[in-house]
Amino acid sequence: MTGKQTLLQNLPADLDIKRLPRHIAVIMDGNGRWAKRQGLPRIIGHHRGVDTLKNLLRCCRDWGIQALTAYAFSTENWGRPSEEVDFLLTLFERVLHQELQEMILENVRIQFVGNLLALPRSLQSEIQRAMEATALNQGIRFTVATNYGGRQEIIQACQAIAREVQSGRLQPEEITEALFADHLYTAGVCDPDLLIRTSGEMRLSNFLLWQMAYGELYVTETLWPDFDRQSLYQALVDYQHRERRFGRV
Ligand code: IPE
Ligand code: IPE
Ligand code: MG
Repeated sequence: MTGKQTLLQNLPADLDIKRLPRHIAVIMDGNGRWAKRQGLPRIIGHHRGVDTLKNLLRCCRDWGIQALTAYAFSTENWGRPSEEVDFLLTLFERVLHQELQEMILENVRIQFVGNLLALPRSLQSEIQRAMEATALNQGIRFTVATNYGGRQEIIQACQAIAREVQSGRLQPEEITEALFADHLYTAGVCDPDLLIRTSGEMRLSNFLLWQMAYGELYVTETLWPDFDRQSLYQALVDYQHRERRFGRV
């Protein structure tokens, strides 16, 4: 194996395997700007963004990251022109269909979070199929946030808990942080240690509001379609230089 191939498969030698994030979340931003810079329609940027995500998933798997969560479509993204919304939802459906066999073979466990019932029926079916087909896989846990909003997620958790209290199955005093987290879409997945946002915007845009209470933020100017293994490596180097204090000294 040549040195270059080794870098592609193995964790770069200067990263500390014991201090890798267990869970990485990504706000995949900048597809539109990437396309505009090339004089191309925005949808071409979204196409390229899919390739970036596929490569990132493989890289995380190769480097021993246990969970990857990607923000694909926010509850606010419905506000985009309907042609773009339609294009994105159709793209998700097509890619999911095309990639499912590969994910099964690669032992990926795919999960979707968000208000899935508001998605087109055909996309819901693909999502259901993919989640069921990979549910027992033991490899990287890959979560795609689709029609996801952090506030909406918190509200639906409150509603579910309120129903349990109303029915007498739960006492208000029994509502703890752990119980609350178990009612979020992300129940069972550890909070992200690292959130990467591409394209320079310094905001959460309604992503993982509860879960990011103590996650580390990393913002890069790189546009999502250009985010590659080297970019992930840089984010991990930066992360490993952080001191995570969790409020202590
Ligand atoms: C992220 O890229 C993709 C989605 C939100 C679905 P954008 O489409 O937001 O790209 P910019 O921010 O306009 O460049
Ligand atoms: C966040 O990006 C949502 C996704 C990446 C899916 P946006 O492009 O929608 O966020 P804003 O509008 O810049 O906050
Ligand atoms: Mg954007």
